[in-house]
Amino acid sequence: ARVRPFAGDRQAGVSTPQQRHVLLLAYDLDEPRPAALRTTLGRFTSALPGLVEEARRAALTVTVAVGPGLLRTAPVPHLPIFAGDRLDPAGCGGDLLVQFCAADPATVAGAAGELTRRTAGGVRWRQPGFLPPTPPGQTPRNVLGFKDGTANPAPEECERWVWDSRGGTYLVVRRVHVDVADFAALPLSRQEEVIGRHRADGAPLGGSREHDQPDMFAKTPQGRYVIPPHAHIRAAAPHLDGGARMLRRGYSYDNGADDRGLLFLAYMRDPALFVRVQQRLAERDELSRFIEHRGSAVGYVLPGAAGRPLGAGLV
Ligand code: HEM
Repeated sequence: ARVRPFAGDRQAGVSTPQQRHVLLLAYDLDEPRPAALRTTLGRFTSALPGLVEEARRAALTVTVAVGPGLLRTAPVPHLPIFAGDRLDPAGCGGDLLVQFCAADPATVAGAAGELTRRTAGGVRWRQPGFLPPTPPGQTPRNVLGFKDGTANPAPEECERWVWDSRGGTYLVVRRVHVDVADFAALPLSRQEEVIGRHRADGAPLGGSREHDQPDMFAKTPQGRYVIPPHAHIRAAAPHLDGGARMLRRGYSYDNGADDRGLLFLAYMRDPALFVRVQQRLAERDELSRFIEHRGSAVGYVLPGAAGRPLGAGLV
């Protein structure tokens, strides 16, 4: 399918089916930053249609988000420090976040080079990520070998919980280191209790198919919850937030044998949702024993450039 990110009201790369490769780039803008932002977005608006058209066979999408303190009408919050965070300041934040996704890493890197040249600022940090080959329509597996993205909101739920009325949304990025060896050393049944789902097919514990609804009340004959109290999917369950949803579009990353993990990328209309969910995870998710949050950033994903420059009316 042809990808035309700047023809529409919304940018591509959010509800787009996941390509196999991502590169996330965070830039610090030159001073004065508002002027640098306007200049940069103007250049991006001119360059992007051509770049994306040229790389359409690789399904390139480029998604531009603006960090804290720069937009008048879309306040971007600073996230609080959560229990267990081990953030590296050099790999956090940024005035401008750009997500490049495509079928191959060369396309992603090429597009990133083109935009970096046009940015009135410098690269603050960068993080590539990838997914294993996954047949269309199936859920990709993360670094733990579990399907990741199963319980994502359906398109009609994204209308309510992901996109705002302008066609924008918030992006939350977390670079989450995973102690893969420690987790893999658990017997399979314990791994499944930590997540709350079966590894083979992604079905919730107590269910039989991937998209079965998790039953949070089901008990074993011994009277224990089938989905344990500290399971990841119990701590993250949307009913604890009045049904509010985020769209997760994460990738695995590999920064060398001693640092692998999840490049968590999630989109939501209200970034306060991330804060509430992450606070619960930090408190009671058993998965927390195997992971460490090392990078963090938030940005407002600008509405698509339908007939006007990116960020028009906002910067
Ligand atoms: C669900 C893995 C971090 C929020 C899941 C699932 C897996 C998973 C395997 C079940 C399948 C699915 O529905 O996608 C991980 C790993 C993480 C991680 C390995 C870190 C290394 C996070 C973080 C958040 C989060 C930081 C948000 C603060 C969620 C949500 C669900 C979920 C909202 C769906 C819950 C539901 O509706 O059933 N995660 N996750 N996860 N995770 Fe994570």
